Amino acid sequence: MLISILSLKGSPGVTTLAVALAARWPAPARPLVVEADPSGGDLGLRVSLSSTPGLVSLAAAARRGGDADLVWRHTQHLPGGLPVVSAPPDADQARAALAALAPDPTGGLGVLRAAADRPGVVVIVDCGRVDPGSPALPIVRACDAVVLLSRARADDLAHLPRRLPTIARWSPNPVLLLVGEGYSTAEVARELGVPPLGRVPDDPNGAAVLCGRPNTLRWGRSGPSHSALGRCAHRVATELATREHPPAGRPQPRPAEPMPQVPILRAVPGVPPGAVSSNDVRVAPGQATDPRDQQGGQAS
Ligand SMILES: Nc1ncnc2c1ncn2[C@@H]1O[C@H](COP(=O)(O)OP(=O)(O)OP(=O)(O)O)[C@@H](O)[C@H]1O
Ligand SMILES: [Mg+2]
Repeated sequence: MLISILSLKGSPGVTTLAVALAARWPAPARPLVVEADPSGGDLGLRVSLSSTPGLVSLAAAARRGGDADLVWRHTQHLPGGLPVVSAPPDADQARAALAALAPDPTGGLGVLRAAADRPGVVVIVDCGRVDPGSPALPIVRACDAVVLLSRARADDLAHLPRRLPTIARWSPNPVLLLVGEGYSTAEVARELGVPPLGRVPDDPNGAAVLCGRPNTLRWGRSGPSHSALGRCAHRVATELATREHPPAGRPQPRPAEPMPQVPILRAVPGVPPGAVSSNDVRVAPGQATDPRDQQGGQAS
C-alpha cells in the first residue's frame, strides 16, 4: 500500500504524522517512511542519520531500474527501529532527487510502487507542502490513499475550499485530517462538505519523541505506544489499512465522494460558529459537538 501525507499550508505536522502512522501501523505489516518533501528533509538532522543512503542514493539507483527490494536498500533506521528513506535537508538536492525518482507517474516511481505492492508492505510518503508544481506530485497521484493535514484554525481552513477540488483530481481517495484546536470536526464537515477522518491532537511531548528532540529520545510514556498522538495515529492507520483490504464479509467502504467546490468558510474568527453535532442536530453551547473532537481523533 502506498500512502502520501501532505499539507497545503503551514507546518501542521506532516513529517511527524508520517512517522507516527508507520510506528503505529497495525501488525503484521512492514511500514516504511519515505521523506519526499521538496523543501528538504528533516528526519536526518533530527535523529542524526548519515547523509547516505537515502532519497538521493535511491533516485540514482532507480535510474538503472530496480526491484521491490531497492527502496529497502536505501533505508536507515529511526531510534525506534523504523526504516526510513531520508531526504537531504537541502531543498535543491531534494527536488533534484524527486525529479529523478518521479519524472512522471509511470516512470521512475516504479520503485516505490514495486515496494508498496509487496504483500504486507506499507510505504508512507511524506510529500510535504504540495502545490501543482511540486516534484512530489507524481507520487501523490500514484498513491492508494492521500492524507491531507490541516490545522483547524480559520486562516488554515480558508485555503481548503479552493484547493480541495484540485486534490480530488490528484487522488480518488483523499482523506482530510484536522490538527489541533480550532473549528470543530462537525463544523468543518458542514462548511466544506467533506467529513474529516479525525483530529490529530496537539501533543508536544508525543511529537517531540517522534521528532527525535534531544533528551526526548526515550520511547517510554511519551512514545508512540502511549502518547495521545500515537493513539490517534493508530486509529488512523487502522482505518487506512482497513480501506486497503476490508475484512471478508464486511462491505467495501464507500469510495470517497469527489470533494465538491464549496463556498468559503462562513464562520468568522471570534464569532463562535453554530455548534452542530455529527448528525446535524444543533446542540446547546458548551456541549460536545462531535466525539472526535473530544477524543483527539477517531478514524471512523
Ligand atoms: N500533533 C502535534 N502536536 C504538537 N506538536 C506537533 C504535532 N505534530 C508536530 N508537532 C511539532 O510541530 C513541528 C513541526 O512538525 P513537522 O516537522 O512534523 O511539521 P511539517 O508539517 O512536516 O513541517 P514542514 O512543512 O516544515 O515539513 C515540530 O516541532 C513538531 O514537534
Ligand atoms: Mg515535514
